[in-house]
Amino acid sequence: MTKLRQARTVAGTRILGLGSSQPERVVTNDDLAKIMDTDDQWIRDRVGIAERRFGGPADTVVSMAVDAGSKAIAAAGLSPSDVDTVIVASCTSTTPIPNAAAQVADLIGVKGAGGFDLNAACAGFCYGLAAGSDMVRAGSSRRVLVIGSEKLTDIVDPVDRSTAIIFADAAGAAVVGPSDEPGIGPVAWGTAGDLVDSITMPNGRHIYQEGQSVFRWATTKIAPIALQALELAGLEPSDVDVLVPHQANLRIVEAIAKRLRKHGAREDMVVADDIVTSGNTSSASIPMAMDHMRAAGRVHSGDVALLIGFGAGLSYAGQVVICP
Ligand code: COA
Repeated sequence: MTKLRQARTVAGTRILGLGSSQPERVVTNDDLAKIMDTDDQWIRDRVGIAERRFGGPADTVVSMAVDAGSKAIAAAGLSPSDVDTVIVASCTSTTPIPNAAAQVADLIGVKGAGGFDLNAACAGFCYGLAAGSDMVRAGSSRRVLVIGSEKLTDIVDPVDRSTAIIFADAAGAAVVGPSDEPGIGPVAWGTAGDLVDSITMPNGRHIYQEGQSVFRWATTKIAPIALQALELAGLEPSDVDVLVPHQANLRIVEAIAKRLRKHGAREDMVVADDIVTSGNTSSASIPMAMDHMRAAGRVHSGDVALLIGFGAGLSYAGQVVICP
């Protein structure tokens, strides 16, 4: 019988470098209060955001992804030719054809790379990281550039106070490569299709969310999934140095941290709070928060980080990683 050769597998994978990108324009809560019925105190108290970045016409899903991706490759000490696959996670990419990944690969100089887009909304980066890691482990890629890039201002009604105060624009990226010691744990992922209608685009142009039901779901269902990701990696809550949940709402982030501490996570566990200055940037939020915390000296190489993304679908995905 004909016997096919299989790609050579590798023992483990890890994140080799991180990068992020944000538009120049800072938008404060007071700026928003000039165009809608809201105020700085309400936004800080209910969502935890002080300011965010909005892109201009030149800032696109592709341009921000190129910037973040290039920085991640440089941070990994690699050159573009060392990367052979690009994954762009986005729910705001403006064209299905051509896909963003092919454009990003070409602009970064990752010539001839495999490339595809994926959409798992705010869980997109963790889905991409799982896919990229498994591709390296299975031998179908050597190094994968995983990018979450979003221009949410394209799909937000600029005067709708229930969404315009929350969402913002950015990209975050990670290079995944082979490693003798595993540095990316198995993914815990899934969907809650019974809540499919809780984040939608009913008029085809603007995002709508049932804030309270999503809030309830995120504060009750996400911590157990994070615990599942820890169990899959063979770790205990007390092993976690850094918790990086999707930056949807600071109160959700704090609720997840509280639940994990009830299960043994340490009081000194660092908890990402990038939402305060970046807003909710969907699939960009987790890699960007990690990159910002690394730059600020809040996380260090070798730290155990627990990532957990969640959003429209409702979709979720989480895994443990060792910080580069
Ligand atoms: N400024 C001032 N007041 C506002 C406001 C704003 N931007 N938005 C709503 N309000 C008002 C409401 O009209 C309401 O007034 P009322 O009591 O007189 O009717 C009151 O504030 C409370 O509104 P509510 O919608 O219950 O607020 P909330 O505490 O649930 O906060 C969200 C709203 C959207 C911030 C919150 O529900 C949330 O973060 N949900 C999860 C979103 C999420 O994670 N999405 C995932 C996407 S990735």
